[in-house]
Amino acid sequence: MAQIAKGLEGVVVADTALSHIDGERGRLIYCGYDIGDLAAHATFEEVAYLLWHGHLPNRAELAEFTGEMARYRTLPPAVVEVIRVLPDSAEPLEVLRTAVSAFAAALDFKGHPSVTHAMALTGSMPSIMATFDRLRRGLPPVPPRADLSHASNYLYMLTGEVPSEQRARALETYLVLTADHGLNASTFTARVIASTLSDMGSAIVGAIGALKGPLHGGAPALVLDMLRAIGKPENAEAWLKAVLDRGERIMGFGHRVYRTEDPRARVLRALAERTSEIEFFKLALHVEDVALRLLHERKPERRIYTNVEFYSAAVLHGVGLPDDLFTPTFAISRVAGWTAHVIEQLKDNRLIRPDAEYVGPMNLTFVPLDQR
Ligand SMILES: CC(C)(COP(=O)(O)OP(=O)(O)OC[C@H]1O[C@@H](n2cnc3c(N)ncnc32)[C@H](O)[C@@H]1OP(=O)(O)O)[C@@H](O)C(=O)NCCC(=O)NCCS
Repeated sequence: MAQIAKGLEGVVVADTALSHIDGERGRLIYCGYDIGDLAAHATFEEVAYLLWHGHLPNRAELAEFTGEMARYRTLPPAVVEVIRVLPDSAEPLEVLRTAVSAFAAALDFKGHPSVTHAMALTGSMPSIMATFDRLRRGLPPVPPRADLSHASNYLYMLTGEVPSEQRARALETYLVLTADHGLNASTFTARVIASTLSDMGSAIVGAIGALKGPLHGGAPALVLDMLRAIGKPENAEAWLKAVLDRGERIMGFGHRVYRTEDPRARVLRALAERTSEIEFFKLALHVEDVALRLLHERKPERRIYTNVEFYSAAVLHGVGLPDDLFTPTFAISRVAGWTAHVIEQLKDNRLIRPDAEYVGPMNLTFVPLDQR
């Protein structure tokens, strides 16, 4: 049997027309469109439509689609009840995972995963997180507004105030940038579940579980912790050197695929400049400079650059999200990609079922219970 790399690194297990990562040139493409163009011009709704239908919507298609997706912002009462009974101290991503499962059950997602299921899950996830956040702060949930964009309504439901155009667009740009990214661990999880002919809800619950780990989506708030611990630009050099001397990683740098700057980091840096407080942005910029210099000095053979998480933290903080909603907000964006991959998997499905090499003992003699 063919032996392949542990972690499946460098192994191609699916064809996809959804997103392409060129790690050498630092390019990311969704369905043919460069991420820089989409970040500059597209709404999150247009990108979700693109991923689900393979083409950008015209004005009439977009109007119909956004109206339809916005309907799912109103959560079924059973889902609100599930959120209410969970402890306020629960991790937001655990709440999201649980409530998405309840949502899929409440909507009776039967049959072949469809664009309708994708829209329902994508439309509902900001409401789930906002409802939880309001309840844990002792505040009543804010009913959604169908006239606001996906991003704007999320901020509105969190705060009860319609955000400025600039804040809503900053969050929307983050959502556009992180909507899909090849066959990352959570997307692969969704495709494995879909390949068993399970339902859309199960695939997305599984994907959220995979995203939760710190090696995938669970660590963006660590960048913020680092910047807060550094505090002032003049502390950066000593602080970062100490991290590297201890053999630890500097958060927000390095990537499995990109061997040059992550194109999303470039867009987010510019966005962070507009959304963060000036002193905070200057600190981030300085920490980035020092970190890149130290990493290049210490590991000249490695090509380590700024990754998406570094400036995501500054942008999400800048638009006013609490730290522990950073990873759930990543899920709120990535659900567009997960659901698109589920639909794509089923167009040419084969059960994903690799083998394992058995390395345990053989030929043991069974010992009856009272003799062990
Ligand atoms: C993202 C990441 C897991 C990618 O890992 P990867 O491509 O598999 O890279 P490897 O783990 O093989 O590391 C390659 C080398 O570069 C070093 N390296 C990579 N990223 C580094 C970082 N951020 N800080 C310090 N050293 C780093 C590793 O120590 C390793 O050095 P070695 O070969 O001398 O042991 C890794 O870069 C990392 O841990 N980054 C920091 C955490 C981070 O930013 N996560 C994102 C959310 S905050």
